[in-house]
Amino acid sequence: MLIRHATLPDGRTDIDLLVQDGRIAVIGERLFDGRPLPEGVELMDAAGWLLSPPFVDAHFHLDATLSHGLPRVNASGTLLEGIALWGELKPLLTQEALVERALQYCDWAVAKGLLAIRSHVDVCDPRLLAVHALLEVRQRVAPYLDLQLVAFPQDGLLRAPGALANLKRALDLGVDLVGGIPHFERTAEQGAESVRLLCELAAERGLPVDMHCDESDDPLSRHIETLAFHARRLGLAGRVTGSHLTSMHSMDNYYVSKLIPLIAEAGVHAVANPLINITLQGRHDSYPKRRGMTRVPELMAGGVNVAFGHDCVMDPWYALGSADMLEVAQMGLHVAQMTSQAQMRACFDAVTVNAARVMGLPDYGLTPGCHADFVLLQARSAVEALRLRPARLKVIRRGRVIATAPDAAATLSLPGRPSRIDWVLPQ
Ligand code: FE2
Repeated sequence: MLIRHATLPDGRTDIDLLVQDGRIAVIGERLFDGRPLPEGVELMDAAGWLLSPPFVDAHFHLDATLSHGLPRVNASGTLLEGIALWGELKPLLTQEALVERALQYCDWAVAKGLLAIRSHVDVCDPRLLAVHALLEVRQRVAPYLDLQLVAFPQDGLLRAPGALANLKRALDLGVDLVGGIPHFERTAEQGAESVRLLCELAAERGLPVDMHCDESDDPLSRHIETLAFHARRLGLAGRVTGSHLTSMHSMDNYYVSKLIPLIAEAGVHAVANPLINITLQGRHDSYPKRRGMTRVPELMAGGVNVAFGHDCVMDPWYALGSADMLEVAQMGLHVAQMTSQAQMRACFDAVTVNAARVMGLPDYGLTPGCHADFVLLQARSAVEALRLRPARLKVIRRGRVIATAPDAAATLSLPGRPSRIDWVLPQ
């Protein structure tokens, strides 16, 4: 396949890409201007639209997705009622229904150009129903979507009876990462102990770690400090992720000035979940209400790799969402007030390259040798993609088109005005 006249997220235009054997063979400006095209290649004219590596969601819950309203809706809209509601739903789940909903979500993801997802999977169920279901889903979607699974003790590793044993069984079955939820343990000390146990387990088994960490408005919820400490102590740099980190929003500035360098030094990734953080945090506040999302621009400036995750779509915690990582990035941009051109581009990175780094995806990107995985967006730049959340004209996996969508142009019938608009300015 030869893709011609693409615009890239870094701003380069008129880029041609030659794809061979599912990988990028050559990439450069107007490679084939005036040259005969290689024989037998399929030609795709990108027509100046934005060609990006696919979107990556570094934080999701595929076991809960699309279950909104089962068995009832979250009346208070809080995190804790969401956890209680998930607890009510768990005994009613069947493996078939879990698989069906997860596969449906993966279809939505592909259509939106989202081709890699890290999903937490609840292991606080002695049947490990969700684990079995998502292992099946991981295998079934593998030809078109990279799915990583995190063994997530939703009800607390030390708080829920049998959680540690269940978590180990999930890892034995092939779940990819060790998860945790230290702020949900009974005490801060138990939270810290869970972080130590889980990091040591991960080091023993050679697995990465991704913990729900400090998803709280309590400024004294400081488990990220412990997570960074054990990541460094056990030599896990680059393989540990702190998800949510919302308490950092409320922490004392002096303490944060010490904390961010510790996170960077330990090589711990951070994942914010803007749609969920802005709806679930600050719920105990009257006015002013805290936003609750972690300190994204400050973490980035401190050298920490930060990604944005979707976290929830139509589940006990969130009734909305559509697998569109541009919606996630757009919310992150607003909540963090990242409105400069460079900051907006950083928000696009947070759902592409940064998230791929969190997941440790090999051969992801736009250099020769990388997988020929792309999404062609009906926008002229990364910032325009954030503004428009445009049509995913083509989604390509290993050099093969796996989804297409019509452009989002509208037809007008107005006297003396152009009949077609596609929301971009004339070039
Ligand atoms: Fe989560």
